[in-house]
Amino acid sequence: MTTNISKNPEATAKAFADYLVEKQAQVNRLNIALSGGSTPKLLFSLLAEKYLDKIDWSKFQFYWGDERCVAPTDDQSNFKMTNEHLFTRVPVPKENIHRVFGENDPMDEAERYGLLIKENLPSVNGLPEFDIVMLGLGEDGHTASIFPHQLELFNESSVCSVATHPESGQKRVTLNGPTINNAKEVCFLVTGAGKAEKVNEIFNYTGKWQNYPAAHIKPTHGQIAWFMDKAAANDLK
Ligand code: 6PG
Repeated sequence: MTTNISKNPEATAKAFADYLVEKQAQVNRLNIALSGGSTPKLLFSLLAEKYLDKIDWSKFQFYWGDERCVAPTDDQSNFKMTNEHLFTRVPVPKENIHRVFGENDPMDEAERYGLLIKENLPSVNGLPEFDIVMLGLGEDGHTASIFPHQLELFNESSVCSVATHPESGQKRVTLNGPTINNAKEVCFLVTGAGKAEKVNEIFNYTGKWQNYPAAHIKPTHGQIAWFMDKAAANDLK
């Protein structure tokens, strides 16, 4: 495990952007699952503004670790956010963007998206292997769209499931735990004081850590890296 602690969210985004520059330089093709959330938004803007020429955008194949079941024009859509902040500003070939069709029936879409990922990615141990899965940490310990009341998604051998947000009831399509844990690298991007308590519980196996989906992210053969700011790492003992 590697832990990278930066001074603020902007510096955290920069640390991860530099990591991406390094990774893409080593390969010809990189399958990445993106996440939604506030730090990725900063990251995408930073990539568009400062990394346009530092990255060979055609090497990336973009997928999502989770998506809200809404139209791609909806402000809740992770695709919409990424499209506005990144894809419309850098030369990514359209065919390298594999979005979740949030506007479709959630069950049908979870199946379609899982099959697409299976077809496109190399298979390792019977599951697709992403090069990088980007994750966030929710204040309730969720990650991707695996929430504490759906920990059974860590026992799902299919690639994707339909998840339900515990408060809004919004449906999401999410990668299941085993596929996330089958990645070459899993990277958490976590910023803000609201995450500090959970980060400490997860790192030190204290409190209710077992209830937090993020604590069950343990790559079977890959690496895990935490990119955090000082505020998120503040309670670490
Ligand atoms: C989503 C996410 C989700 C997110 C966390 C943290 O689409 O909502 O993928 O898992 O990463 O909720 O979000 P923040 O970085 O905004 O705190």
